[in-house]
Amino acid sequence: MSLKPARIQAGQERGPGVDAQYLLAFVGSNNGRRVFDRVATRRELGVVPEDDTRTFSAARRVDDMAIPTITLASGHAIPQLGLGTWQLQGQACETVVKEALDLGYTHLDSAWMYQNQDAIGRALKEVGARREDLFITSKIWHSHLEYDAALGQMEEILRDLRTEYVDLLLIHHPGQGVPVEQTLAAFEKIHAAGQALSIGISNFSIEQTDRARAATGLPLCTNQVEYHLHHQRDDLRRHCHAHGIFLTAHRPLAKGELAQDGELQEIAASHGKSPAQIALKWLVQQDMIVIPKASSASHLRANLDLFDWQLAWPL
Ligand SMILES: NC(=O)c1ccc[n+]([C@@H]2O[C@H](COP(=O)([O-])OP(=O)(O)OC[C@H]3O[C@@H](n4cnc5c(N)ncnc54)[C@H](OP(=O)(O)O)[C@@H]3O)[C@@H](O)[C@H]2O)c1
Repeated sequence: MSLKPARIQAGQERGPGVDAQYLLAFVGSNNGRRVFDRVATRRELGVVPEDDTRTFSAARRVDDMAIPTITLASGHAIPQLGLGTWQLQGQACETVVKEALDLGYTHLDSAWMYQNQDAIGRALKEVGARREDLFITSKIWHSHLEYDAALGQMEEILRDLRTEYVDLLLIHHPGQGVPVEQTLAAFEKIHAAGQALSIGISNFSIEQTDRARAATGLPLCTNQVEYHLHHQRDDLRRHCHAHGIFLTAHRPLAKGELAQDGELQEIAASHGKSPAQIALKWLVQQDMIVIPKASSASHLRANLDLFDWQLAWPL
């Protein structure tokens, strides 16, 4: 992907709907598609309340597909949609990542345990995407939660991804036996060395989240947990959001099950969308970050189409 330097075009509002209103700057062409960056936020345009924590300033727009960002407690912005990469490996992973980047994805969810970070690193190198345009998450596996082991695994992650830092580093699962204080001390060192811009947790309950919050002076930015229409965890979401920790919904399509859900098919038909899109939008509309895994171009593209329409609420 090679983007030309920004050339701000005439400001333009798009509609209908609050989500779709912003100003655009044309920055270039990518394989024949016109690529835009937003230059004004919805808040600046006065169309969202002051306490809406989402900002749209860094979002990139490819054709009619826009990915808003959420500002984390660290001050860094995370695109609200990312590509899940569990079970994508080797050449297949490389191909899907390149295709996703080409379509306009900038946020990749990975982990040391997925054994695909070398393939992701190869794809990133080949595409030549600017590092600052990407948001890469990785996770420290539960076999490496001791202080030195976590530092060692971080070196491996950076080497494989061919990057000097990840945007977000998570504890993949709460440790059994290793106190979270020890792992978070390693995370503080990693953060201080500039190897992780933001840190967070994954698969933590309310109690485990509170213990982790108390264990570090750094903000915990996200808790990545299984969350979808068949696995709702409203107490956890409310608790985390109240403490400035956004939830990232992993397995947001229940591993594809929701695409076949009969009730969702009816709702989808009434919105002119697919069941998978309804399932993802349901999460997005509750300010969660979503990371569906997709390996076909049609799924990758469908999952981008979430941000210029609204669900009739509640479902
Ligand atoms: N932190 C953790 O412990 C943890 C645990 C699990 C997952 N995760 C993360 O969350 C990501 C997502 O979870 P997941 O991979 O388990 O499952 P998922 O995203 O809920 O579902 C993936 C399945 O949905 C299908 N799909 C994707 N888009 C679709 C669409 N628009 N219409 C119909 N079907 C669609 C995919 O098919 P195709 O592949 O054929 O396109 C694939 O079979 C993972 O990849 C990983 O990054 C994290």
